[in-house]
Amino acid sequence: MRLLVTGGAGYVGSVVAAQLVESGHEVTVLDDLSTGHEDAVPEGARFVRGSITEAHEALAGVEAVLHFAAKSLVGESVEKPGLYWSHNLGGTLALLDAMREQGVRGIVFSSTAATYGEPERSPILETDPTRPTNPYGASKLAVDTALTAYAGLYGLGAVSLRYFNVAGAYGRYRERHAIETHLIPNVLKVATGERESVSVFGTDYPTDDGTCVRDYVHVADLAVAHLLALEALSLGEHKIYNLGSGAGFSVQEVISVCREVTGHDIPAVLGARRAGDPAVLVASSEKIRRELGWKAERASLRDIVSDAWGALSGKSV
Ligand code: UFG
Repeated sequence: MRLLVTGGAGYVGSVVAAQLVESGHEVTVLDDLSTGHEDAVPEGARFVRGSITEAHEALAGVEAVLHFAAKSLVGESVEKPGLYWSHNLGGTLALLDAMREQGVRGIVFSSTAATYGEPERSPILETDPTRPTNPYGASKLAVDTALTAYAGLYGLGAVSLRYFNVAGAYGRYRERHAIETHLIPNVLKVATGERESVSVFGTDYPTDDGTCVRDYVHVADLAVAHLLALEALSLGEHKIYNLGSGAGFSVQEVISVCREVTGHDIPAVLGARRAGDPAVLVASSEKIRRELGWKAERASLRDIVSDAWGALSGKSV
């Protein structure tokens, strides 16, 4: 298929773009490089530097869009909500309008577990209440709402994938954020010597060891779900799927696996909670398994950390 990947120079977008190219699709990457890296655009993909608000040209001849371009830092979204509403919601509405004008009728959207907010139960089902606790989650939920409306009104075919904690690397493609807030890359940066220690945000949560529990999904498995979602696009329908591996690991468990994988003692400094962190976030990925046949093939935390470490210590892209 001829596909447009917005945000394809970013972490998840570049892995998906690489897998699409490997599967024989014709891929154009649209990215403004505000947080992405041009050298992360896979060989074999066409690159257009630009904003999703000016996607008309890049959309010419395209059959479907995979939409990753977004602002994605929870803390920043609390400080600058307008940035998140304008980029994530405003930008996506402009993209959807351009798609309508160009007759592009399919979209796979990069949504998030942050749409659920503080969950009432675990694992989280797609039918559970969506009560985001920050503007990042709220802006992504607003896009999900718009996609449902556009599917009903204009016959758009849409799939939203709600990621839990994405980690790991795919070959040379790895997480490379200028401001790194995520746990696994921050822990591994201690092992490379870029940081002296890692901070543990909160040790008094109602979990076994008092630290937060998250559902880590390998970026390569996550990417496979996008290819399946593409095949599952159906005009007039908006489908929503959670994407996790179904198992929860605490912050302390993550640090301990990172110590095993790197052989570094990785000093950890126990600190206060980070505002807005739910104690436990674990996905039920039963729906995507049942409907699309997806399952996490690299579900072990050790594999996820090993791949992230291999790419970071080898300093590939
Ligand atoms: N943490 C630390 N120290 C760090 C970084 C993180 O203890 O240096 C803790 C956090 O407090 C949290 C856990 O590690 O308990 C995971 O934190 P991340 O920042 O790696 O990931 P989050 O769970 O906060 O966020 C992820 C995605 C978001 C998405 C959210 C959905 O990165 O984009 O899941 O809830 F919104």
